Amino acid sequence: MSANSPAAVVVLAAGGGTRMKSNRLPKVLHEVCGRSLVGHAVAAAEELTPGQLVVVIGHMREKVAEHLAAHHPGARAVVQAEQNGTGHAVRTALEALAADGIELDGTVIVTTGDAPLLTGGTLRALAGAHAEQGNGVTVLTAVVPEPFGYGRILRDEADGAVAAIVEEKDASDAQRAIDEINSGVFAFDAKLLVGALAEVTTDNAQGEEYLTDTLEILRRAGHRVGAVVAADYRDILGINDRVQLAHARRLLNDRLLERAMRAGVTVVDPATTWFDVQVSYEPDAVVLPNTQLQGATHLGEGCEVGPNSTLKDTRIGAGARVSNTTADSAEVGELATAGPYAYLRPGARLARKAKVGTYVEVKNSELGEGAKVPHLSYIGDATIGEGTNVGAASVTVNYDGVNKHRTVIGAHCRTGSDNMFIAPVTIGDGAYTAAGSVITNDVPAGALGVSRAQQRNIAGWVERKRPGTTSAQAAAAAAGTGAEAPAEA
Ligand code: UD1
Ligand code: CA
Repeated sequence: MSANSPAAVVVLAAGGGTRMKSNRLPKVLHEVCGRSLVGHAVAAAEELTPGQLVVVIGHMREKVAEHLAAHHPGARAVVQAEQNGTGHAVRTALEALAADGIELDGTVIVTTGDAPLLTGGTLRALAGAHAEQGNGVTVLTAVVPEPFGYGRILRDEADGAVAAIVEEKDASDAQRAIDEINSGVFAFDAKLLVGALAEVTTDNAQGEEYLTDTLEILRRAGHRVGAVVAADYRDILGINDRVQLAHARRLLNDRLLERAMRAGVTVVDPATTWFDVQVSYEPDAVVLPNTQLQGATHLGEGCEVGPNSTLKDTRIGAGARVSNTTADSAEVGELATAGPYAYLRPGARLARKAKVGTYVEVKNSELGEGAKVPHLSYIGDATIGEGTNVGAASVTVNYDGVNKHRTVIGAHCRTGSDNMFIAPVTIGDGAYTAAGSVITNDVPAGALGVSRAQQRNIAGWVERKRPGTTSAQAAAAAAGTGAEAPAEA
């Protein structure tokens, strides 16, 4: 907490979110760009390093509490057992702090758990204006094209100051025509807030304690009531249903892509490219269409990812290329390549210039520098040395039905196509294996491992056993033109 930090930020997140029509998730746990709605609110609040960060929870509170403990352990969850309104929610939060002996002094920011586009910067600007103007309360407002459903800002005709906020359901027709609305975000003087909340009644259309009533209460008591108008109304959009959820995701994604492009990333098709908030990158990375970068995915300088790729918590090295690939918790080294059609599962680690090719799945395995698995293979629980080439259609047979075992293939090996490596098994440096081998025993360095049945040919079998078929005709023609029938082995 620094000198300019608020004493507390209170995030309101107890509401039911009925318009989401969700049986499984409370509204505030729905996600936008890799973070829950309440997570966005908490992340913005954390930027202010408040003395106390309180989240008021209620609806599906166990799930929300668990989520906060896992992702935002610095936030204190306070339960509002019955959702009796935004004023009641704030009162509950302050009473919980007081019960723990925490008396707030200074600024309290109240914000909402369902406005994911709201940034720490906007909260800071609000807190700054509040302090500068010496206000008792400052409300963040916005002028919106469609004010329906929001509380309207009533301004004093004489001095233009905010006089009150009236809710949609309590508003007259003339008030409903006002297009300046309450974002639901405020800065309060802590002591004045406590006093004003004590005066809030439930005398309104919804029978709730409205936080918004505190503005009129404070103004009547002679305190300054200020307003900061959001520069872009889209920054304060609240989510009530899944249409708004998708809209907010699009807007936040646009913001994230714009930031990446300004930092030197080429995004070929912003319309089909999706970034999570934690994605990071270096200049000259190129993102091809239909690509989703999730979690803490990182793009190294000059790498190229996509098209049609989904990369989660994956590091892409400088100059690497990844196409038509799904990756989760993988590492692709500098100048390495993956795809088209690769599946990199957790713990797949490709060193510099390594290659994972077409229809190849890699899990919990390291490929050394320049090692290649070009075609149609499964590599699980394996270590593959530098410069080694694994033949097409090979499988590290890592699972015995109960336990997983490792395959170790040394450096500069050439393993044949269609090999099964029955783990645990080790192939020494520089060794070869024959195509079609089932490798159950270790192969020493420099040896050729062969494990397959001898071939034998039965001469004339087709003409005898499949007479009249096109194969038999072809065989007869081959015999007639002097083509030699292969001898029986
Ligand atoms: C509220 C404001 C309205 C504003 C709008 C902005 C009031 C009375 N109205 O209306 O002026 O324009 O937000 O989106 O404040 N919550 C609780 N406990 C409760 C009730 C609500 O924690 O008892 C939380 C909700 O989870 C939500 C936030 O407070 O995050 C706002 O509540 P909501 O019911 O969505 O209020 P609105 O009717 O949208
Ligand atoms: Ca709302």
